[in-house]
Amino acid sequence: MIIEGLVTTLGPAGACHVAPMGPRFENSEWDDSFELAPFQGSATLRHLVEHPEGVFHLDDRVMLFAQLIVGGWEGPVCSAAEVVAGWVVQGVCRAVEFRVEGQDLSGMRSCLSCRVMRRHEYRAMSGFNRAKHAVVEAAILASRRHMIQRGELESRLADLYPLVSKTGGSEELQAFALLRNYALADDQVSRQVAQ
Ligand SMILES: Cc1cc2nc3c(=O)[nH]c(=O)nc-3n(C[C@H](O)[C@H](O)[C@H](O)COP(=O)(O)O)c2cc1C
Repeated sequence: MIIEGLVTTLGPAGACHVAPMGPRFENSEWDDSFELAPFQGSATLRHLVEHPEGVFHLDDRVMLFAQLIVGGWEGPVCSAAEVVAGWVVQGVCRAVEFRVEGQDLSGMRSCLSCRVMRRHEYRAMSGFNRAKHAVVEAAILASRRHMIQRGELESRLADLYPLVSKTGGSEELQAFALLRNYALADDQVSRQVAQ
């Protein structure tokens, strides 16, 4: 199963780099290993090839996902990880320090085999909330805006909006609005798909 979360890697000069990523676990997030599939060209992949350690986080603050995708990260500070050279985002629910033990860089999406080195449990995750899930979906759509036709983007975001308006709070509403504006912005990056 794929669990959506945040991955920190070591950026230039050891700075904390954060990106939303969805690693695949064989059974559950409690497995001792997982596979990470960052796209070729992503900073996360570049960093992990240079330094094969990082931290995967589970968090229910969907605004963090939105800010990371639209480029307005105002996120919490990071503190040093315990057993890997890496960074833990403050205030998350859980964090998993990992080491990359194998890599297949042949495809558009790489496949990095990661071993869990240390787990941290900080706080309970919030229960199922359809608005939070809808914002995560919107964040994934927004991160692929260059690959999806505008009409399809509009329609898929319109389908998600009632979940946010009916079941969300102010954080979910604001995060969704940020993502929608970004995904449908007129100064859109050139799309790889014909309109
Ligand atoms: C919930 C979520 C999950 C994502 N999972 C992945 C993933 O597994 N692999 C990937 O390459 N990009 C994934 N993305 C898209 C990246 O976050 C996005 O391309 C980001 O710009 C990559 O950042 P980086 O270049 O700083 O690594 C995901 C986005 C979201 C919102």
